[in-house]
Amino acid sequence: EELTIIRKFEHIEYCLKRNVQAHVSNGFEDVHFVHMSLPEIDKDEIDLSVEFLGRKFDYPIMIAGMTGGTKGSQLAGKINKTLAKAAQELNIPIGVGSQRAMIRKPETWESYYVRDVAPDVFLVGNLGAPQFAETMPGRYGIEEALKAVETIQADALAIHMNPLQESVQPEGDTQYRGVLKALAELKAEFPYPIIAKETGAGVSMEVAIRLESIEIDAIDVGGLGGTSWSGVEYYRAKDEMGKNLALKFWDWGIKTAISVAEVRYATELPIIATGGMRDGITMAKALAMGATFAGVALPLLRPAVKGDVEGVIKVLERYIEEIRNTMFLVGARNVEELRRVPLVITGFTREWLEQRIDLPAYLRDRRI
Ligand code: FNR
Repeated sequence: EELTIIRKFEHIEYCLKRNVQAHVSNGFEDVHFVHMSLPEIDKDEIDLSVEFLGRKFDYPIMIAGMTGGTKGSQLAGKINKTLAKAAQELNIPIGVGSQRAMIRKPETWESYYVRDVAPDVFLVGNLGAPQFAETMPGRYGIEEALKAVETIQADALAIHMNPLQESVQPEGDTQYRGVLKALAELKAEFPYPIIAKETGAGVSMEVAIRLESIEIDAIDVGGLGGTSWSGVEYYRAKDEMGKNLALKFWDWGIKTAISVAEVRYATELPIIATGGMRDGITMAKALAMGATFAGVALPLLRPAVKGDVEGVIKVLERYIEEIRNTMFLVGARNVEELRRVPLVITGFTREWLEQRIDLPAYLRDRRI
């Protein structure tokens, strides 16, 4: 049990002090807008709001879950509260990190609790998919899922899928048998929306179709090209074998841009495009490709550990201004219109997508 908590700190430390990003891009450099010399709109009439799971948000950015699991208002609590204050101010959704520590040690609940500083924020709880596997001793069910959401008064639950990370760490939970069935059973009874979330290796259209078939409410594609959990595990590995395995799989996965296209093409689920989103032009591309939000984790960690709410807001406002400017230059008054502007896809991303989906059909219709 102590292990889970120590692990959390190591993760944060490595994320701050080492380069834990993928060595490959998230694919959006292959996605191009076509500049419009006559946008026929005024820049200041652009509306960045989006709807998601029955709620309206002011901006199409989500703060992805990162942490929790320390007692009282220690580091994890400070990070979550800082991020939540920024999310409250901007009216954007926010996730907390895995609540596994809280299920084991209920006294850590406060480190996930942000309602006191963010009463109106759309808050997403977080549990891991392997905890629901049929081969997991003490497997989770609806009781743990309800506890995760209700203890922190969350609005939805994210179930993170992280087979990559689990597979390259010595103490990893590599049980994944029966997860889909367990999620189907959970979904049938659970009164809150469930978001299936990858953590840096992307969601394929085959997986997305299965998730849609059990009525999961949304997908966070968590694609390759941003934070690499295999990268984090590389630094944590204690021996040669461990280091080798984590290094080999550092850049494993489906790039974020590709994952967004596959999921949009194959399902009607709302998409959160997370994984290496580091500027507003890239975010606008994800929205144009059919995502409802761009999700961000790592760039917000540094200001958040300092408790610097203004610092978090500043990073997000920069993204917002870049999205707005991009929308002006392609003549899109709102996100709906952004999904109708022409896109050109080149290079590796085009080669991949041509083998996987009907690319011209997808490019013609990128709406839900
Ligand atoms: C994460 N991420 C994550 N995801 C999750 O579902 N549960 C978790 O507990 C965590 N913990 C966590 C800690 C830290 C320090 C980071 C940086 C990230 C993954 C995160 O939500 C996101 O999917 C990826 O980090 C990809 O986004 P970025 O970092 O490339 O913007």
